[in-house]
Amino acid sequence: MSAIIIDGKAVAARLREGIARDVAAMTAQGSRAPGLAVVLCGDNAASAIYVRNKGRAAEKVGFRFQLQTCEADTSTADLLRLVAGLNTDEAVDGLLVQLPLPSHVDPDVIADAIAPDKDADGFNPANFGRLAEGRAAPAGATPLGCMELLRSYDVPISGSRAVVVGRSLLVGRPLALLLTNADATVTMCHSRTRDLPGVCREADILVTATGRPGAIDAGYVKPGACVIDVGTTPRDGTVVGDVDRESVEPVAGWLTPVPGGVGPMTIAMLLRNTLSLATARRRSTVVV
Ligand code: GUN
Repeated sequence: MSAIIIDGKAVAARLREGIARDVAAMTAQGSRAPGLAVVLCGDNAASAIYVRNKGRAAEKVGFRFQLQTCEADTSTADLLRLVAGLNTDEAVDGLLVQLPLPSHVDPDVIADAIAPDKDADGFNPANFGRLAEGRAAPAGATPLGCMELLRSYDVPISGSRAVVVGRSLLVGRPLALLLTNADATVTMCHSRTRDLPGVCREADILVTATGRPGAIDAGYVKPGACVIDVGTTPRDGTVVGDVDRESVEPVAGWLTPVPGGVGPMTIAMLLRNTLSLATARRRSTVVV
């Protein structure tokens, strides 16, 4: 037996094509194209590349893209003013502040300031709370990308045992909620979890987001399980995941490769979040 390799690049490309068609239909009916604004604070080289890729992808599907940059020593007050301006900018439907932020800025303060109806990351506590209540809410692009891959490959979710390794705001916590909302029975693991391999071996769906290359080998995987690798550790000009592919591929039922699995999905899901926010905002605008 050998795992089905989940092709995130192909799924993401199909999603982007669908979004581009929806945007074309929207503008043909006289609606404004969705607007995405990204704030990049400081000089993190990886963030600069991510943000450039987000901008290119947004423009390619027909969005209007706005990049706001600020220096690494920008005060929290100035950053909050920038966010407040974008919150009230009618051309902006989706907004995100790229992480990580410079160390003197508390990311929670920024998440609190983003207007919930423009929150393309789902980081505002109002949206996170809605997700926890099982209500519709924007959620992070990476966890949404994982869900979309499971659905695209018809991996059974309802009633399955799901184990999420890592409890970050970006991946583990929202993904555990999304899986719960999709009727999986979810266990969230972290650095203090006892017998991590034993817990992981119970999983029908195993998601790992630890950033420790090769940490998940065949000893963590139930035969036939779906293994979603969210790890992205830069190495030798490429990225490596958390999964030891050589040992896991013969055991798992499905496996996301790194690169080419979850990675390509994140930008596609950001675009879909922005399109959803734009559609919701258009609907809530009263035309008299
Ligand atoms: N940095 C890495 N991933 C993300 C993300 O999904 N959102 C934001 N805002 N920053 C990130």
